[in-house]
Amino acid sequence: MALTRLLTCLLSVLLHHHVTTGINLRPVIGVLAQETNSSTFGDTYIIATYIKYIESAGAQVVPIRVNETEDYYRNLFNSINGVLFPGGDVDIITSEYAKAGKLLFLMAVQAHDKGDYFPVWGTCLGFQLLTAITTGQDLLTKFDSTNVNWPLNFTQDAQKSHLLGSLPRDVHHYLTKENVTENFHQYGMSPETFNGNPALSKFYTVLSTNMDRNGKVFISTMEAKKYPIFGVQWHPEKNLFNWNPKYDINHDAHAVRVSQYFASFFVSEARKSNHTFPAMKDEADAVIANYQPVYSNDGSFEQIYYFNYTLGWD
Ligand SMILES: *[C@@H]1O[C@H](CO)[C@@H](O)[C@H](O)[C@H]1NC(C)=O
Ligand SMILES: *[C@@H]1O[C@H](CO)[C@@H](O)[C@H](O)[C@H]1NC(C)=O
Ligand SMILES: *[C@@H]1O[C@H](CO)[C@@H](O)[C@H](O)[C@H]1NC(C)=O
Ligand SMILES: *[C@@H]1O[C@H](CO)[C@@H](O)[C@H](O)[C@H]1NC(C)=O
Ligand SMILES: *[C@@H]1O[C@H](CO)[C@@H](O)[C@H](O)[C@H]1NC(C)=O
Ligand SMILES: *[C@@H]1O[C@H](CO)[C@@H](O)[C@H](O)[C@H]1NC(C)=O
Repeated sequence: MALTRLLTCLLSVLLHHHVTTGINLRPVIGVLAQETNSSTFGDTYIIATYIKYIESAGAQVVPIRVNETEDYYRNLFNSINGVLFPGGDVDIITSEYAKAGKLLFLMAVQAHDKGDYFPVWGTCLGFQLLTAITTGQDLLTKFDSTNVNWPLNFTQDAQKSHLLGSLPRDVHHYLTKENVTENFHQYGMSPETFNGNPALSKFYTVLSTNMDRNGKVFISTMEAKKYPIFGVQWHPEKNLFNWNPKYDINHDAHAVRVSQYFASFFVSEARKSNHTFPAMKDEADAVIANYQPVYSNDGSFEQIYYFNYTLGWD
């Protein structure tokens, strides 16, 4: 018994940063909601593309509500295998999205320090939230980088990284040479700010940068040094799931391959987490299939799931 536990423990240490051996074959990933501007459809929302992105790589999704009790987040954290902070448009310090995100992030770090693998992914606003959680400040500056596709400019550290260090040849080529990463942000993290902030530069490694339309450089990809925490300022989910012709989104086979690669990467990370819901019924009651998205053919996001605070979890 003790020997088995020791071996399991050793194995999890060995697996920690290298192998993507599947362990948990029912991974469930939480996607965080955020406040809407107007409560016509609901107080908070999740854009459906982030959900489809995760589902397309073999995991289930549960929505994570904002403005809930710490118990709610603790119970959910103990039941799911990873968290995605999606893009959007709320304050990265004061919003309910930011507060809930910070709680979950701290739980992930604390769990990981005890050998409990738990991946966290931030996309766009989610990337920006990661920087705010680490510094306690909004250190973003303005960039001209909406509605544009670029290749990533890898840093020296990319090749040794967990996220980009073992890219298949084709994905590496598309990602560094072709316009496959969709940018949709007016703010970003400059390398100067990042390098000037010890909290950030001790916690994260910069894996890629990009130049905005005015030649200003921003950090486009980063990962935590000691944790499976990843941030992309760009939008891997858009190549797969955003079809509004108003936007310039790359749907070519290479862009799609890159997006699918990162969806699979994150779900592989989640398979290393063994958290489970107390019972199968609890899982069934929590998954996104319990909700209906609203479709708008002229909105930016096409399909959106809405949640009202007053509904409560049950
Ligand atoms: C919310 O309001 C802000 C400021 O008025 C605006 O920039 C943003 O586009 C709105 N977001 C959504 C999702 O409608
Ligand atoms: C949220 O409440 C508003 C106002 O009562 C209602 O119109 C809307 O349908 C509700 N949304 C959801 C998802 O329940
Ligand atoms: C959060 O929920 C409480 C009630 O539980 C409510 O009074 C408060 O307005 C909510 N916060 C926001 C930002 O709506
Ligand atoms: C790529 O980044 C390097 C520094 O990491 C910089 O010297 C170079 O100018 C950048 N190239 C582009 C096209 O952004
Ligand atoms: C990528 O897009 C830029 C415009 O942002 C364009 O100048 C460049 O030729 C494109 N590169 C490729 C490989 O299509
Ligand atoms: C997950 O693994 C840890 C240690 O590896 C163990 O303590 C815990 O009981 C496991 N949890 C479940 C739900 O199997």
